Amino acid sequence: MASGSITAADVVQVAYLFSLLAWPVRAFGWILFSLPQVAIGWKRVKPILDDAADLPPRRREASLPEGPLELRARGVSFTYEDADAPALTGVDLEVPAGGSLAVVGATGSGKSTLAQVLVGLTPPTAGVVEVGGHDIGGVANREERVALATQDAFVFNESSEENVALGRSDLGRGEVDHALDVAHAATFVEALPHGRDEALGERGSRLSGGQRQRIALARVIAGKPGLVVLDDSTSAIDPAVEGDILTSLRSATEGSTTVIVAHRRSSILLADRVVYLENGRVAASGRHDELMAGHPGYAALLSAYEVEEAEGAAPDAADVNDGDGDDADASHAEAEGGRA
Ligand SMILES: Nc1ncnc2c1ncn2[C@@H]1O[C@H](COP(=O)(O)OP(=O)(O)OP(=O)(O)O)[C@@H](O)[C@H]1O
Ligand SMILES: [Mg+2]
Repeated sequence: MASGSITAADVVQVAYLFSLLAWPVRAFGWILFSLPQVAIGWKRVKPILDDAADLPPRRREASLPEGPLELRARGVSFTYEDADAPALTGVDLEVPAGGSLAVVGATGSGKSTLAQVLVGLTPPTAGVVEVGGHDIGGVANREERVALATQDAFVFNESSEENVALGRSDLGRGEVDHALDVAHAATFVEALPHGRDEALGERGSRLSGGQRQRIALARVIAGKPGLVVLDDSTSAIDPAVEGDILTSLRSATEGSTTVIVAHRRSSILLADRVVYLENGRVAASGRHDELMAGHPGYAALLSAYEVEEAEGAAPDAADVNDGDGDDADASHAEAEGGRA
């Protein structure tokens, strides 16, 4: 060694030591690589955990049965913190078990707020929401029996199968496959290089908006909820496919009660009845044809939507109040993520 020469045994020893070190060094690299993600994840999760800790404990004792559930809202009002005006005022509505209701209204009329309140995610400031005859705030198995799908479908960076099952270990592969089929998601999922095992990217970045919405609908279908609220959750899906999905959704979920926040005439027509909201109040309710004939505001909004679909922009309250619906506000549509 002193002469600077090295034996074969020394080389083997050094190489062996390096091989022992390689794995721990690589593992350390993984930890360093994951640290920023962990830090950001913790930053996002912590406020939610803190908020949950601040909530007063609620007694949730009622248990909702299998099958479709009756929905009833009585005198429901809601005001956001720091808001000047209430988002909902005295909303009354009723959907029989297995029935369907379309919620229609101009931008800002309170549709999404109502959707959140109906599924029990937001407790109303006044009034009560009853599902299957129980105050939704007191239902123990609400998460299993009531589902909400929104326009911005959240898709995790997991396989489509995991995205649909979402930790529900009781769901078999057959049920997940069936849900993907009903939501018209099976074809594009199978086309991915690793099919349904392929991870869908952070927030579903590997999918189009309409494909993300289909994954979210499959998630709802797989859960066989007794009440489904769809808040603009099919807005990026082509109308023909949308009609097909909604029809199969109702039969696939064994006729679950459906509330659909809708903009297209074709989706509104899928519902038995319509509730028309204006500034957070129920301005009219009934069948679509009754409202078209009896409520000028509703008829004006519907024709504004039709212009919107033709032009690819969303109307706002001003368009509807003018009654012409011709001057759809494209910048607003963009701010909302657009309704394709
Ligand atoms: N987090 C919030 N904080 C304060 N005000 C809010 C909040 N979310 C909504 N609002 C207000 O409540 C009202 C109803 O909003 P909501 O989102 O329910 O309307 P929407 O009918 O769903 O509209 P869109 O058709 O644009 O989705 C609006 O005036 C809105 O500005
Ligand atoms: Mg909304």
